Amino acid sequence: MKKPRATLDRILSKAGIASRTTTRGWIEEGRVKVNGRVIRNPDHWVETGKDVVHLDGLKVREEKKIYVALNKPTGVVTSFGDNRYRPTVYDYLRSLDRWVFPVGRLDMDTSGLLILTNDTQYGEALLQPESKIPKTYYVKVDGVLTAEEYFKLAYGLDIGHSEVSGRAVVHEVRVSDKYTWFELTISEGKNRQVRRMCEAVGHAVLKLVRIQIGDLSLGDLPVGQFKVLTQKETQKALQK
Ligand code: URA
Repeated sequence: MKKPRATLDRILSKAGIASRTTTRGWIEEGRVKVNGRVIRNPDHWVETGKDVVHLDGLKVREEKKIYVALNKPTGVVTSFGDNRYRPTVYDYLRSLDRWVFPVGRLDMDTSGLLILTNDTQYGEALLQPESKIPKTYYVKVDGVLTAEEYFKLAYGLDIGHSEVSGRAVVHEVRVSDKYTWFELTISEGKNRQVRRMCEAVGHAVLKLVRIQIGDLSLGDLPVGQFKVLTQKETQKALQK
């Protein structure tokens, strides 16, 4: 039988301590021991369940998985550090004291539901294009959408950079003489997809909020607040 193995940097990141890039640095600094011996090679193979790993003298254990939903505010970047010192999603997770990574990203000007976790497999399951998890956005655009424009959004259109959007579900919520509000569900994750779709039909996005991933809704989670998800909720996010 094949022994379960993983590289040293992966063992540390899967334990929920820090990202792989960070743990690679620690390993190279000589802070990590395997079976009592300092190992400076992040790609060193470790037999899980057999080899004993220490970081700074502390035994590394596989950490329990954690899943968090954040209602990301606008003006906040979805990344760990920002070289322009803008606020990041981690500023809103200070009381969590666990390392988590964002599953995908929302643009700085987009608010709403963002899942963060330390479970890399779960993150990959949500993100891989083949999984086609639907994501619903509440959108406010400049101007009034015509029937033809709704049709284009729903049936796919050229969004530039040689990309075409796939099928989408569109529901008008409200319309005034200046603006249109609607819900748009897409099952893809192209870069800035919703904004590019709206721009392709000639309407600038004025507000964009992600309100649902799979069957998991943002609900009444206040802006800037997070909650730890139950197992049932994490499964809901995977529903197509
Ligand atoms: N589509 C966008 O244009 N921006 C986001 O943040 C998410 C989807």
